[in-house]
Amino acid sequence: MGIEFDIPVALKGTGMYVPEKVLTNDDLEKMVDTSNEWITSRTGIRERRISENELTSEIAARAGLAALKAAGMSADDIDMIIVGTNSPDTLFPGVGPKVQHLLGASMAGAFDVQAGCTGCIYALATAAAGVGSGLWKNVLVIGAEVLSKLIDWSDRNTCVLFGDGAGAAVLSRGEGSNAFLAVELHADGGKWDYIIFPGGLVEKPATHETVEAKEHSVKMKGNEVFKYVNTVLPGFLKKVCRDARVEPRDVDCWIFHQANIRIIEGIQKRLKVDPEKSIVNLDKYGNTSAASIFLALHEGIESGKLKKGDRVMLASFGSGMTYGAILLQI
Ligand code: ACO
Repeated sequence: MGIEFDIPVALKGTGMYVPEKVLTNDDLEKMVDTSNEWITSRTGIRERRISENELTSEIAARAGLAALKAAGMSADDIDMIIVGTNSPDTLFPGVGPKVQHLLGASMAGAFDVQAGCTGCIYALATAAAGVGSGLWKNVLVIGAEVLSKLIDWSDRNTCVLFGDGAGAAVLSRGEGSNAFLAVELHADGGKWDYIIFPGGLVEKPATHETVEAKEHSVKMKGNEVFKYVNTVLPGFLKKVCRDARVEPRDVDCWIFHQANIRIIEGIQKRLKVDPEKSIVNLDKYGNTSAASIFLALHEGIESGKLKKGDRVMLASFGSGMTYGAILLQI
């Protein structure tokens, strides 16, 4: 069964922004005990962008502006801004209100969604529900991360994986059919300790000890995440297809969370999906967490690989553990 909104929801435009500075695997070889060979063969990542002094709110606003331009709208047309992020400038205020101010979106409300890398799917789903129910007319949805500031740059288990960037989409009331053919969101909170940022808040307020233990940075049980995703995602995505009454082979394009090429290839194999039908850009940007699917969606549209009417499956997983998927007809 697909989604039935009162009002059809349309994807009006997308945009993206990445910081200028490129950090290559060769650069990382000089920083930690790793190699270009290890990073490329184990993850597929070749380089990532790193923010030198731009805040998450600033790169989010740049991506948002690009999406507004693509949609042919101005900031005044927007009545809600939703930002998926795990690396807000500060815990509060959120990134959303800062973006609202930077864009001068005087009519808009704004808030953040924090759901690990799946934040992009949760944010898009929330925006679609808001437009489809009639609550909002035009929503700017953004995924933005400056995770480079939350990484322990001496920890080779995490520092080689992540990159900074922001992507955005404008959703509006549409005509005719609804662009959101299926939406499924899940959480498996028992696996909360797979990807964590332990220090500095209620559970472990900042102390000299938390700083010394490097608890103000991302910690990840990478191999547990890897096994979990390979076990759970294929069956989940088959169910999403079943519920939407499409065969995996009939989906025109797959956009997986850009975390690891081996995870993407494993899922493609289990779903018997042609690898040519996926968009992969993790080699250029690394894992940009809640921004990754927005970046791939935008590049797919920009490059002409995605065409009007294509059915695109967006699928992500992340800290929580959370996972989710959206089948979108663009
Ligand atoms: N360079 C060289 N060696 C390394 C590096 C590195 N950068 N990192 C780890 N290793 C070593 C390990 O220490 C280990 O050595 P050992 O066998 O001597 O102990 C060996 O490589 C193998 O380590 P594994 O963790 O088993 O390697 P694996 O094949 O699982 O790959 C990776 C690790 C890339 C992290 C993988 O598990 C992965 O991608 N996991 C998923 C992570 C993810 O997708 N997170 C996304 C969510 S993030 C979010 O929501 C914010």
